Amino acid sequence: MNVLVIGKNGQLAYEMLKSAPQNLNCVAVGRSELDISDLDEVNHAFTKYKPNVVINTAAYTAVDKAESDQEAAYAVNELGAANLAKICKEHGVRLLHVSTDFVFDGNQTTPYQTDDAVNPLGVYGASKLAGDQAVQRILPSSVIVRTAWVYSEHGNNFVKTMLRLMAEKPQLGIVYDQVGTPTWAAGLAKWLWAVVAKPEVSGMFHWTDAGVASWYDFAVAIQELAIQKGLLDKAIPIRPIPASAYPTPAKRPSFSVIDKTTAETASGLLAVHWRTQLSSMLDDLKKQY
Ligand SMILES: NC(=O)c1ccc[n+]([C@@H]2O[C@H](COP(=O)([O-])OP(=O)(O)OC[C@H]3O[C@@H](n4cnc5c(N)ncnc54)[C@H](OP(=O)(O)O)[C@@H]3O)[C@@H](O)[C@H]2O)c1
Repeated sequence: MNVLVIGKNGQLAYEMLKSAPQNLNCVAVGRSELDISDLDEVNHAFTKYKPNVVINTAAYTAVDKAESDQEAAYAVNELGAANLAKICKEHGVRLLHVSTDFVFDGNQTTPYQTDDAVNPLGVYGASKLAGDQAVQRILPSSVIVRTAWVYSEHGNNFVKTMLRLMAEKPQLGIVYDQVGTPTWAAGLAKWLWAVVAKPEVSGMFHWTDAGVASWYDFAVAIQELAIQKGLLDKAIPIRPIPASAYPTPAKRPSFSVIDKTTAETASGLLAVHWRTQLSSMLDDLKKQY
């Protein structure tokens, strides 16, 4: 089976490649080889790689920049996703597409189900939602998985930013009133590979690690575990601050915990607690030092 992973230089694609099953012929392409917003390039890539399955991890993910760069965000997140769905349909190729918790407004206090009402607060979430809707409309047999708070040893993310700031700063203030679930990209990659092996699975799913945390809780755990593992020398004070004290161009949902039940049933996997996953990621990161 030929699997084409799109978005090669991103966090999730890195973990997908690291954990790709040996029995699959897995090829990854980055933006320089395939710009998904260009339909001709998508067509050409399908002719060249002859995929049976396409996994789209590519996206415009700069949440704050998207507010002033709307056209670019939609070109990748809506048009790019639609292009892939269109060509997958023409070639009879299965599509697995990745989306976000930012399609929700965060006004709920219980985990979001896959069919709960969407209402993105910013351009990034709105452009991803437009992409999901295009994929569902063009190729209803696709798999779409919404995830949240993704990090990996590769790329830029909250964990690596915290480790840098904790080494540099005398103290930190971290937002306590935005709650979600951190997700190690390796865990999501494992879920995606499990679903690749189940051709009967289609539809919308939610996947994160297990549990709930605020950014503040997450930062405290990063510091604790990083000290235990020798990635940081000393603890600095971490203060909980409200999101209002850390204004950003894009508004973010205050509650974006998503319910994984149907994704667990479909894949046969149980989500692992985010703190356990964080510990594993820090072990991997330590090997790079
Ligand atoms: N990161 C999170 O916290 C988070 C949360 C929820 C959902 N998600 C979703 O999870 C998925 C994977 O996220 P990630 O964290 O792995 O993202 P990432 O690290 O930002 O990687 C995204 C990749 O997409 C590539 N890309 C951008 N525009 C492209 C285009 N026109 N054609 C082809 N490739 C293009 C980028 O290429 P360059 O390297 O050249 O820029 C980048 O390598 C995305 O769908 C994202 O929306 C992420």
